[in-house]
Amino acid sequence: MDMEYFSKRATVRNYEKRHIPEILLDDILERAMRSPTCGNMQLYSVVVTRDPEKLARLAKEHFNQPASTGADVILTICADFNRFTEWCEASGAKPGYDNFHSFMMALTDAVIYAQQVVTIAEMEGLGTCYLGTVNYNARQISDLLELPDLVVPVASLSLGYPADVVAQCERLPLAAIKHTETYRKDTPDEVVKLFKAKDEFADNRKFVEENGKESLAQVFTDIRYPESVNLSVSESFMQLLKDKGFLK
Ligand SMILES: Cc1cc2nc3c(=O)[nH]c(=O)nc-3n(C[C@H](O)[C@H](O)[C@H](O)COP(=O)(O)O)c2cc1C
Repeated sequence: MDMEYFSKRATVRNYEKRHIPEILLDDILERAMRSPTCGNMQLYSVVVTRDPEKLARLAKEHFNQPASTGADVILTICADFNRFTEWCEASGAKPGYDNFHSFMMALTDAVIYAQQVVTIAEMEGLGTCYLGTVNYNARQISDLLELPDLVVPVASLSLGYPADVVAQCERLPLAAIKHTETYRKDTPDEVVKLFKAKDEFADNRKFVEENGKESLAQVFTDIRYPESVNLSVSESFMQLLKDKGFLK
């Protein structure tokens, strides 16, 4: 196994105009099914979009971000308790999976599966990019893909052959995320030190300048993930969970 892959990987957003063979895609999707799954229930489904017209409609729901418009394939990975519920009902078992806990089990399964797809696809030389916009337009995507009850999109991935070599971006130091035995609550000064490399990373400084902000944090709070958007996405996603039967 190429262990260097893990320290060298990066998200790829620009793709060559070259098709991923269906046989390779299926092989990736099938090998990824070895990912751990809650109770071995496999509470996820993946909808493959590669028809150009459908890709264009789906990309629109991802705000036409470049990783979506240039992708050869977009995978929409769904938390799925529909299949399991149907199986229970057909087998004389009474399912009790129309609740939030069941959604969390399915969400976890789906996200673990998605990351396994990413790892295998990238190891096969493909480029991948998560499209977090799946949360923003989850209902529209759900309608477009004709998702039934107890099926909700939770992760989208664009896939393609990388058009260029991507430089890696920065990460926090291990000390920021590692806590020993109990959680170490850092002081504000210590937290600022942990973010120093991030604040000083050249691309991040450029973001700050281009957006006329005083700090990188303001780029996040004012532009990339502002409270108003977080609240409206929360509300629409909660409503979708209700409509799909995961919440009363
Ligand atoms: C949940 C999630 C949502 C993401 N959404 C987007 C997105 O909408 N657009 C995008 O270009 N990258 C997206 N990314 C990719 C991240 O921006 C990327 O992983 C991060 O900047 C670190 O870069 P790296 O993967 O190259 O190390 C997303 C990643 C995750 C895990």
